[in-house]
Amino acid sequence: MRAHEAGTLHADGYGAAPGWLPYPSDVMELLPQLWPRSVGRQDLAEGGELTVAGLPVSHLAREFGTAAYVVDEADFRARARAFADDFTAPFERLGGAEVFYAGKAFLCSAVARWVMDEGLGLDTCSGGELAVAKRVGFPAERIALHGNNKSVAEIRQALEYGVGRIVVDSLDEIERVAAIARELGVVAPVMVRVTVGVEAHTHEFIATAHEDQKFGFSLQTGQARGAIDRILAHGSALNLLGLHSHIGSQIFDIAGFEIAARRLIGLHAQVAEAYGLHLPELDLGGGYGIAYTSEHTPMTPADLGAAMAALIEREFAPLAAKGVTVPRISIEPGRAIVGPSTFTLYEVGTVKSVEVGHGNVRTYVSVDGGMSDNVRTALYGADYSCTLASRTSHAAPRLVRVVGRHCESGDIVVMDEYLPADVSPGDLIAVPGTGAYCRSLASQYNHTPRPPVVAVRDGRARVIVRRETIDDILALDVDDLDSAEQ
Ligand code: LLP
Repeated sequence: MRAHEAGTLHADGYGAAPGWLPYPSDVMELLPQLWPRSVGRQDLAEGGELTVAGLPVSHLAREFGTAAYVVDEADFRARARAFADDFTAPFERLGGAEVFYAGKAFLCSAVARWVMDEGLGLDTCSGGELAVAKRVGFPAERIALHGNNKSVAEIRQALEYGVGRIVVDSLDEIERVAAIARELGVVAPVMVRVTVGVEAHTHEFIATAHEDQKFGFSLQTGQARGAIDRILAHGSALNLLGLHSHIGSQIFDIAGFEIAARRLIGLHAQVAEAYGLHLPELDLGGGYGIAYTSEHTPMTPADLGAAMAALIEREFAPLAAKGVTVPRISIEPGRAIVGPSTFTLYEVGTVKSVEVGHGNVRTYVSVDGGMSDNVRTALYGADYSCTLASRTSHAAPRLVRVVGRHCESGDIVVMDEYLPADVSPGDLIAVPGTGAYCRSLASQYNHTPRPPVVAVRDGRARVIVRRETIDDILALDVDDLDSAEQ
């Protein structure tokens, strides 16, 4: 390691800040792109505490405990509406557009209701998510069912409910859906998941349209055409609505979506030419990136809509002569709606300085959660940021690593962040951007009950997913000895 004139914190490696993380001029500042819209800070005279929808976070911590996910309902609804209105507006002059919220990012009954109220469809990928949709009476025709290995029970559940689309992912599944549709005496509306061969620039485990992965039918090798033939051969049991592509998640570069759309449209045109079939729908999936740290600059739904509509218009223009009309476009954002609407509130338990070599020290701040409520740092090397939430501080910024309470060293919540140097046990820390794929990927690792989801709106807070208890965990544990004795 080389010494650095700005001091050890600025040197390479050994406890240094990554290049994208600048030394803050104001460590208490909130970057607006990271936080739900109603988040702010009290005046310094009042303590400088973080507030959400007018509520100081210490009130939330007292009432609901920590760790807790806090979702700003108005912010969620505004982001959903921005997709439903601003994204779709430029498509009005074309074939129209529809937005399906991807429930895998986070779903519960309240969220399904918000999505329904704001006029979006719902993308589900399991019987469990479908059950939530049914519970709130989500209109069936606005529901999609995904998955590369849907069970017979899930397909039956979807067809009985009358979902608007089942996105088929394999030849086995086409046979399965057709058989169940015949048995129920219904027509199954299907879309074909196409692997368009785009290498999305994201983590390998969340990129989904390059060739060597489990999803979809390859465009390149002709599998997608084969799937279409197979569907059409089933006659009236299956109604082919259109083609679908999803290239990955947390993507900022619109070029990936554009290439995917162009390839999908190529196939759409071939289907029109070969079968005289004008598929009414075309789905471009989700994957729009959000800001987790100052290094990310996401596009707005309005800008995304304008760019995608321009592309669709351009690509379909030459096809008009062949009688190919522009289908209705759909997209499936999850993260971009729920991600920034939520932060996780933790309490600091310990602060420890560790020698990391060459005389450098790293400060580990342990909180009362961790990889059980946010596995994304450990699983994908995701970057997060955080702020001191329960008070203001005039102490100098110190580079810290925020870690969880679990029994492994990879249990990291925030790899690198500056917090005031006087951060101490009892302080509250808030981590923004935890609405997507945190509660939905949460585990009970180390028999840790999963945190609640608390919705705030207009100065009021309510639980929309309750905190798990040790009793919940023990209730699943079948003690053989007990039953043998009874
Ligand atoms: N549509 C389909 C077919 C999908 O598979 C997904 C996400 C979406 C839409 C929504 O993507 P979004 O807009 O939320 O990026 N657990 C990973 C992300 C996995 C994404 C799975 N599919 C993570 O935490 O980053």
